[in-house]
Amino acid sequence: MALKPSVPSSFRVASSARRSISTVVRDICIKIAIKNDASRLAYAARARTSGPSTLPTAPQSTYIPMTAIQNRGLPPGPRAPASVNTVRLVQRPLQSLLGWRERYGDVFTVPLLVFGVGVYVCDPSAIREMLTGEQSDLHAGEANAPLSSVLGECSVLTLDGREHLRQRKLLLPPFQGSAIQNFRTVIRDVAAADVGSWGEGERFVMRERMRALTFEVIVRAVFGVTDADRIKRLRGTLVSVLDMQAVLFLPNMLRHDLGRFSPWGQFQRRLQAADALIYEEIALRRSEPDLEERTDVLSLLLRARDEEGRSMTDVELRDELMTMLLAGHETTATGLAFAFDLLLRNPRVLHRLREELIAGEDTYLDAVVSETLRLRPVIDANARTLTKPRTIGGWDLPAGIRVYPAIAVVHLREDLYSQPHEFRPERFIDGEAESYAWLPFGGGIRRCIGASLAQAEMAEVIRTVVSSVDLQPTRPDPEPVVMRGITLVPRHGTPVVVGRISGKRPRSVAGEYPNRRPLAEIVKGYDRVARLYSTLEPLYLIFPPARRRAVAALDLKAGDVVLEIGAGSGRNLPYLVDAVGPNGTVIAVDASEGMLAQARKLMERHGWSNVQLLRQDAAQLRLDRDVDAVLFSLSYSVLPEPGPALERAWKLLRPSSRLVVMDMGLTDPRLRRALALIARLLDKLAPGDPYSRPWDDLASYGPVAIERFLLGLYYVCTVEKAANL
Ligand code: HEM
Repeated sequence: MALKPSVPSSFRVASSARRSISTVVRDICIKIAIKNDASRLAYAARARTSGPSTLPTAPQSTYIPMTAIQNRGLPPGPRAPASVNTVRLVQRPLQSLLGWRERYGDVFTVPLLVFGVGVYVCDPSAIREMLTGEQSDLHAGEANAPLSSVLGECSVLTLDGREHLRQRKLLLPPFQGSAIQNFRTVIRDVAAADVGSWGEGERFVMRERMRALTFEVIVRAVFGVTDADRIKRLRGTLVSVLDMQAVLFLPNMLRHDLGRFSPWGQFQRRLQAADALIYEEIALRRSEPDLEERTDVLSLLLRARDEEGRSMTDVELRDELMTMLLAGHETTATGLAFAFDLLLRNPRVLHRLREELIAGEDTYLDAVVSETLRLRPVIDANARTLTKPRTIGGWDLPAGIRVYPAIAVVHLREDLYSQPHEFRPERFIDGEAESYAWLPFGGGIRRCIGASLAQAEMAEVIRTVVSSVDLQPTRPDPEPVVMRGITLVPRHGTPVVVGRISGKRPRSVAGEYPNRRPLAEIVKGYDRVARLYSTLEPLYLIFPPARRRAVAALDLKAGDVVLEIGAGSGRNLPYLVDAVGPNGTVIAVDASEGMLAQARKLMERHGWSNVQLLRQDAAQLRLDRDVDAVLFSLSYSVLPEPGPALERAWKLLRPSSRLVVMDMGLTDPRLRRALALIARLLDKLAPGDPYSRPWDDLASYGPVAIERFLLGLYYVCTVEKAANL
């Protein structure tokens, strides 16, 4: 697992060998590779070289002739020089690996420039045995040693053995269980804000766009930073370090700080600025009064203790934050770029995905993510270095050799997946995939820590995009897969143009909030406060204008029958009665008897004979007549099950009639950020309410008009039933 620096054009591989023909060829090939934008290969080369675990050094190339490989009893493999293999792998990684497997079998040896000699393993049972058996002789961390300059000495990526296990045990819990639901909320907000800013006709490269988005998700969900200014500062400072990863591959003699204009000097200054910011965030978080309740990864790590009761030091926290940023944001962005390339080129799959999302079904969405990562794994092979001789896939391999479980090849095996080159998410619903046949996140004790976050992120971003906009690829052909660093990427990054914006949004959070209180409890609360509520309500001066807007949106005519869900203490009734006139009917439903008692008093006071008050759970609503309009009034976001309530009301609605939701909530992402503390408090009182976005649910029924007022705190959203329904 590693990252992808770009190597400066001045980069030269230091060769200790005499300047023979082979070294000349090798140097030329490296230059070709760099020119072909495969320059980041250099990182991978180093990452896959079992270098010293202390000070990172510049990449050294290892050229071992095929005869030497045969003499060492290594499995067979391509006879071409390392330079040729390398260029092939960089330019056409999938075709090269598949071709080698076809020719040499499930275990083959490939000498690569700078990478050295590596043994690829394509048999899932051999991989399973390797990754789940004894691990002490398999090192992954030392291969990542060059990253220590950025990640520090305490990163889970660069450690091996007991130290690795300690960090891993501390890091894993924040990525498990209910954490994913919290992540999803963050991801949806970030995705909705970003996609909401896309304009029709806009063109961009998906991988770049997704990179910005996944950066923000990590900063919010992992670092726990929500303040817009601080996010901006972190983005500027951290991205400037990530963009300079190439210097990690400078030869040692150039790794000197010769002032701010020298590459190493500039890198050091950027790193210091980034470190200062990260340490500032850690200190700030330690002093937060709500640290114990916070659910972001940094806060959870601050509270974590190892088996001996020790907490993580600031240096460890800094190193792991940097690790998660490096390991987590570009990989996920690349996965998303692949997903969109595949979806846009497979209209059948895209159509089915849209249908399933409208029906509120997520199984197919998850299958799209799994299938994308199968057909286009971001990492072609995870790497291990043998510290002792070991038998793998029937071959006795010597100590010091690098072994690559060939993820990309396993994913394309015909005996594991029927028509493996087809994009067919159904296979993950039909249960075709077996464990260790699907390995995009590696396996065993080094399996990706962020796997669930990455999958949730891919799913939520895909949901937001396909529910809201039409995209068109701007290139005629599917993206070729190339290698950058150790990652596989779409060659052009999936350039797209934004087409029609449908206004359809994903389902509201309101319907899915797991901590939502049951109806009986909510009703009990309202029953208790009904009298006080009814007395205080006239003081909320904003209510009358909001009510007028909502009733206007219903477009009522004299004689209409209007259904109000969440009648409360009856304060909307005067507006509704007025709109339908003496020949119309108002049916007002509420689950709280206390509230209805207050409404009844109002009814008696005004002498309305055309108002019916019904005590019912809106999710179980029963009515023996159709209606001309439905109003969900200040109630939608508190309903424990808004989805079924909406569905029932919709069924009662006559064609060409309107359903309106009038409510309040922190639905605007900027406002939510500004009022983060209040939002958290509100969320404690009524989980999910401040985040409710009913228009996401309404979008399943038709185009939604949204009117927001008072800084977006109040909203009225309307959907009209088509005449032919
Ligand atoms: C689609 C996105 C991602 C892919 C394809 C991916 C893939 C991988 C792979 C193949 C490994 C190596 C596993 C092995 O050696 O067996 C790995 C390790 C790792 N990943 Fe990811 N990853 C992704 C996203 C993330 C995210 C979002 C995070 C965290 C925020 C993350 C954090 C890590 C860490 C910390 C490790 C090192 C684990 C260890 O050495 O114990 N990754 N990832």
